[in-house]
This record gives sequence, C-alpha cells and structure tokens, in this order.
Amino acid sequence: MCGIMKYTIEDFKTEIECIPDEDIRAWTLKAFENCPEDFYVVPASSSGKYHPADEKLEGGTAIHIKRAFKVMLVLCDSESDILTREEISILLSAILLHDICRGAGRTHPEAVRPYYAQKLGDAFVEQYPDIMDAIETHMGRWGRHRPDTLLQALVHYADNVASKLHQIYPEGNVEVMNEVMKSISNANVKDLSGKLQTGINYVNNK
Ligand SMILES: [Fe+2]
Repeated sequence: MCGIMKYTIEDFKTEIECIPDEDIRAWTLKAFENCPEDFYVVPASSSGKYHPADEKLEGGTAIHIKRAFKVMLVLCDSESDILTREEISILLSAILLHDICRGAGRTHPEAVRPYYAQKLGDAFVEQYPDIMDAIETHMGRWGRHRPDTLLQALVHYADNVASKLHQIYPEGNVEVMNEVMKSISNANVKDLSGKLQTGINYVNNK
C-alpha cells in the first residue's frame, strides 16, 4: 500500500488511556474491541469533497480519528475550568467512536446505536446516552440531528476542524500529510492529555 499507514486497536490504546473516568475508559475500550471490521480500512470521506488527501484513502477514517482526538484534547483543555471529569471522558469517548460505523451499507452516524445494541446488547448502549447523543449529532448542520448541548457541539467542532486540516495546512499529497501525521505522535497526545489532567485536577480540587 506504498506508505499508507494502517492502524489496529493497539494504535488507539494511547488515546483510550487518556479518558480519565475508569468506567467510561473501559466502556470505550470494549466498543473499540467490538467495532465493525471495516473501521480500520474505510476512507474518511464518502463524497471525496472533505478531509485531507490521505484520509480519503483506505484507512483514512482511522487517521482522521487520531487527528480529531487531538483537536478534542485542545478543546477540552480550553473548557477545563467548567467541564467535569465525567464530561471530559464523555467527549473523548464520543470523538473516538463518532465515525466507528462509517463503513459501506450503513447510515452513519445513526448506525452506531443499533450496531452496538445488536453486538453488545441494549444495556451497553444505554449506559452512556450522552456519548450516543453526541455521536448522532456530530455532523452538525450537515447531519439529521443538530447538536444542542455544549458536549454535542464540542464533538461536532472537533470533527469539523479535523476534517478541514488540509485547509489550514497546505493542500497536499500523501507525503505532506504523513509529515503532519508524524507531529501527532503518541508522545504528543500524552503531552496534551497531561496538560488536560492538570486542568481536571484543578477543577476537581476547587
Ligand atoms: Fe469524523
């Protein structure tokens, strides 16, 4: 596949470990372990109009999720004086799972709830309704359901900014975008997450 990066669940463990709430972290890991098989191969753009060039190729959704997660860490840090530890956990989980059912033959993102209900049962899906609601509204004015809470809006913003990184960085070929990708290393995610944890601890100790 000439230089295209391919991810597995192992590549998302750094992100999942950033989720501060233990129960939401475990729930998110379980969702990842049971994700649709095509999640790691499906491109991020079905229309071909949006998303950086490398995200339009095979494996593009996984690349997009890692970038959107980094944007979400920055947004969470911005709001870390008002967001609770649980809300930040909901945001990080929702951004990791927002495109999990993007594959062919599904009505993304409305497919996420029925997919997991069928795969893991209703109790699993109903455990964190705020995560499911944020996933279903993440497409904002381009989707069927608009965000109407701060959490839902933040998931939409993180997704939208991440899908337009090529408009911020030079429109590029795969090599250029892979250079950008290198800057989104696990160390970088850990660094952002560390700053966020400091913010959470500050809020929770106030
Ligand atoms: Fe997305």
